Amino acid sequence: MHKDLQEILISQEELDAGIKKLGERISRDYEGRCLTLVGVLKGCVFFMTDLARHITTDVRMDFMMLSSYSGAHSTGVVRILLDLKESIEDCDVLIVEDIVDSGLTMDYMLKNLGTRRPKSLAVCTLLDKPSRRRAQVPIKYTGFTIADKFVVGYGLDYNGIYRSLPYVGVLKKEVIEGKQ
Ligand code: IMP
Repeated sequence: MHKDLQEILISQEELDAGIKKLGERISRDYEGRCLTLVGVLKGCVFFMTDLARHITTDVRMDFMMLSSYSGAHSTGVVRILLDLKESIEDCDVLIVEDIVDSGLTMDYMLKNLGTRRPKSLAVCTLLDKPSRRRAQVPIKYTGFTIADKFVVGYGLDYNGIYRSLPYVGVLKKEVIEGKQ
């Protein structure tokens, strides 16, 4: 375990098994269709690549990057820093996120992509932190529901680091406090 963590919340094995199950469900639900996975950078990268390899129907992959905001000062204003390369009109679209926390980012994504006339639009998140929800967003696929703890690893970062940890863990309080 990384020295800055107080515990591992979801092990590599649990992630593998959970993501395989999600991929199987998605493959059944979208059988015979071409699915466009829209990843929200940067947190989605590990999850999206692992998930895509468990989906047996054809997939396209595209990405967006949104401005991030600090939780305490959240205004709910989200800005697009990088937009999709391809049109999603008439496509079955699945948004792939690392975590839904307040729901504000996903609410923005759903409203924005919804205006582009996709055939269908749904959300797949690795982690769901429902206790801090401010915008109610429909989540079709959830890997793991977690308590209100700040987690890192498997794509999730703190100040840009810890993304590459192969598991999801809880940062020690003194690491967060020490860096603020
Ligand atoms: P929301 O808009 O509050 O739902 O948050 C979405 C974004 O906040 C996620 O895509 C993450 O980048 C970030 N975030 C929320 N909770 C955590 C966490 O526990 N660890 C790391 N990043 C988080």
